[in-house]
Amino acid sequence: MHRRRDLGGIVFVDLRDREGIVQVALGPAWAEPDVIATAHEIGAENVVVVEGTVAERPEKARNPDMATGDIEVQASSFRVVGPADTPAIPVWRTKGEPPPSEEHRLEHRHLDLRRPEMQRNLELRHRLLQRARRSMSDMGFYEIETPILTRPTPEGARDYLVPSRVNPGQFFALPQSPQMYKQVLMACGMDRYFQIARCFRDEDLRADRQPEFTQIDIEASFVSASDVHRTVESVLVDLWEEGGQVIEAPFPTMSHADAMERYGTDKPDLRYGLTIEDLGAELSGRGFAAFDQAIEEGGRIRGIRVEGGAVLSRKQLDVLATEARKAGAGGLATLKRKDDQLSGPLARLDGMAIENCGLDEGGLLLVAAGADQLTSVVLDRVRLGLIDLLQPTPRTDHAFTWIDEFPLFEATKDGTGWQPAHHPFTAPREEDAERLRAGEVAGLRSQHYDVVYNGNELGSGSIRIVDPELQLCVLEAIGMGREEASRRFGFLLRALRSGAPPHGGFALGFDRITMLLAGADNLRDVIAFPKTTAARALFEDTPTAVSQDELRELGIRVLHE
Ligand code: AMO
Repeated sequence: MHRRRDLGGIVFVDLRDREGIVQVALGPAWAEPDVIATAHEIGAENVVVVEGTVAERPEKARNPDMATGDIEVQASSFRVVGPADTPAIPVWRTKGEPPPSEEHRLEHRHLDLRRPEMQRNLELRHRLLQRARRSMSDMGFYEIETPILTRPTPEGARDYLVPSRVNPGQFFALPQSPQMYKQVLMACGMDRYFQIARCFRDEDLRADRQPEFTQIDIEASFVSASDVHRTVESVLVDLWEEGGQVIEAPFPTMSHADAMERYGTDKPDLRYGLTIEDLGAELSGRGFAAFDQAIEEGGRIRGIRVEGGAVLSRKQLDVLATEARKAGAGGLATLKRKDDQLSGPLARLDGMAIENCGLDEGGLLLVAAGADQLTSVVLDRVRLGLIDLLQPTPRTDHAFTWIDEFPLFEATKDGTGWQPAHHPFTAPREEDAERLRAGEVAGLRSQHYDVVYNGNELGSGSIRIVDPELQLCVLEAIGMGREEASRRFGFLLRALRSGAPPHGGFALGFDRITMLLAGADNLRDVIAFPKTTAARALFEDTPTAVSQDELRELGIRVLHE
């Protein structure tokens, strides 16, 4: 029961199911008084069974805003079959009533999921899952399930561990992805595999990350990167169609280096221009100490020229400067051309004048200086801030792009070593393989690729290493000796040594795709029972402590700090 209204002797009940709402009318002309009395007494969220006649509503009572607005059910019987406590959060809200807090929604998820919006999201998720399965199966991929109790899979996060009672002191890990199994399946001659795979990662959470999430995981033998790209595009075209949107494939490709140079990020939102430029030649040596110092220290001066950007107020520019500082910049230098006057700190540069300022009337220049790692992060945030403030018209609604030629390794956070830029099974580019065999690490490029949509990373993949010796070189480069390598990845190495076809694949973040197609801004709105950013499940109230007896049985002692 969605809601009830009593009007002049007739009780109107809106009955809700997952398809929508229908009005039930209980009036003296067709229902006994005790039936009307029952309906009169019960509140929202009770589950009822109604029998009656579907009738046209009187002309005046029709509701053109409602799919079932021309009819009502004139009920002759009305029974409560699932009585409800007063709901802790409202399922139905009057217009303008603020929604319950996210915490309340998650705590009372059984009520939250009754909201039509959440029902629509889960229905969409269901359709997308079925469509993904059909697309993959139609392309000849087998759906094969891989273990959940497994060995650690290196995908850059921490593992969720599960103790083994019968093997005290030993643990399974929940898979961060099915990466190693899908490669082994290629060595098993399975040729084309996919899985709607549940993955588990203990990492810092954000709106687009959950500790438990779902991938459309794909692997195929005897493929090139472009074969994988065409397969992934085909699934995405189908999923977008299922979401009611038409997109075009193939998608364009941009190298990682280009993306970093022009957008400062490896997931650029290409619906908009606003590219980053190198301004070293224009702005160095003109009396701006911070710029000259950055150049002396091996950095660069980079900035964004914003057509029409002079409309931004001082306060709005301060918002951008704060973003820049949060990203680590000392400041954000500006130059504004408005009413043929220059203003902002850069207006004082030696020789700066209207004729040579590089801006059209109404233009704005935003500049940061320093090492590329810094200015990229800073200008990426500034660019997103600009898009937010100026709301420019997008060039397209659907900006898909492939990003390729990622580096193979990146420096560890403490700068003392190397880690894989993605996972250690990614193949180097063919021309870099010999350098890797010779022990080189810096500057090697990989055969990794991502697919990016409107500034979101939808998925990633690569062509894999099939030569076990080359695989050991990668593991050695990240500081793993042969003994550790064979302990951790022995089963994969064994499979590679047994005759493995060349292979490659991809994994799409299914929750992210559903979130974007549902128009939601948080993964939690497309997952039935999600976790909070503190990695807790509020509805089930878990994780929880376990009894001493259970711990003893598992051979575990908890150290309280
Ligand atoms: P990767 O780690 O890039 O690659 O993951 C692929 C895609 O999965 C999604 N994703 C997540 N979604 C929600 N919450 C998370 N915590 C989360 N982490 C990742 C993203 C991401 O692009 N084995 C490789 C793929 C391969 O090489 O084939 C892998 O897992 O959309």
